[in-house]
Amino acid sequence: MEPKKIVVLAGDGIGKEVTFWGTEVLRLIGKGFGYRFEIDEALIGHSAIEVTGNPLPQETLDKCKSADAVLLGAVGHPKYDNDPSLKVRPEQGLLKIRKELGLYCNIRPIKIFDELLDASSLKPEILKGADILFFRELTGGIYFGEPRERRDNGKVGLDTMVYSYSEVKRIAKKAFDAASKRNNRVHSVDKANVLESSRLWREVVQEVAKEYPDVECIHMFVDNAAMQLIKDPKQFDVVLTGNMFGDILTDEASQIAGSMGMLASASIGDQIGLYEPIHGAAHDITGMNIANPLATILSAALMLDISFDLQEESQIIIDAVDKVLKQGFRTRDIASESTAPDKILDTEQTGLKVLQAIKSTMSRSVLI
Ligand code: IPM
Ligand code: MG
Repeated sequence: MEPKKIVVLAGDGIGKEVTFWGTEVLRLIGKGFGYRFEIDEALIGHSAIEVTGNPLPQETLDKCKSADAVLLGAVGHPKYDNDPSLKVRPEQGLLKIRKELGLYCNIRPIKIFDELLDASSLKPEILKGADILFFRELTGGIYFGEPRERRDNGKVGLDTMVYSYSEVKRIAKKAFDAASKRNNRVHSVDKANVLESSRLWREVVQEVAKEYPDVECIHMFVDNAAMQLIKDPKQFDVVLTGNMFGDILTDEASQIAGSMGMLASASIGDQIGLYEPIHGAAHDITGMNIANPLATILSAALMLDISFDLQEESQIIIDAVDKVLKQGFRTRDIASESTAPDKILDTEQTGLKVLQAIKSTMSRSVLI
């Protein structure tokens, strides 16, 4: 395999702590299997604003555009959350990089590791066996629609929810392709009883569905989907939805996977892939070495699978995470009342356990 260029954007808050371990995992896999991963770093979000005044400096964008894949930590800072008047904001960096790299398709796998059935606030019998793949449209909808502005001396705020035929079609195809390799069911989530953009969404999805006669297509309103997700998550296989609905539903669905600290995501388009945990910057625990690095480690696994076509290596990482959980180890966010205090690990200990588990598999399967 040609050398692969990976840019790591640690971002803000716990981003640095978790991407460190994602990177260590990639380095170890590279070393073990003889792949050259050239890892570079760049700034994004609040940490980029502090240094350059820009949440996505040109240098970062240039590096990412010439990379094969990007591993991102998190962006955000409480300072901005409490002051809506600030015009330059960390999240703009994330939205811009998604747009600039053409990452219109955000894939979020929701699956619970059996060992974590008691970490969720939902009943284990509801969760066991749930396995959902979310396809969230990522470069359109109300996140990007124009106009977006304040009017009437700031007394009115306006955003625009807009979708075009081609935007819906390309993500719908990705979702149906995935479903046809899984359990042949797509739930398309919209608000077509109220929104014009959703009525277009539904029409286009119906058209695409005709090309996949073996895939069952079910349309669901977003309010109902929010309820069905926690009532009976096993009814879902692939969920296809727009930008904002997908943002909200995937946070909700994180409870199906036990914790936000477990969920990885892939954002893809036509070329470069960007991989990131779905959790945020978590400033309340930043620098304390207690963040859960597993979502980022699992994002690195998704990178190997999707961007580099290394399914076996990707599975080694997932199995390593599984093994660490099976040994009973937990970061605080996924610990339960029954977790013994000596099994509660910090970020570094968790990262090291995963590396150890990967090493023991590799020493059996390849020469290192
Ligand atoms: C996500 C995040 C982002 C989003 C924020 C940080 C802009 O919540 O990736 O889900 O809303 O897309
Ligand atoms: Mg979100």
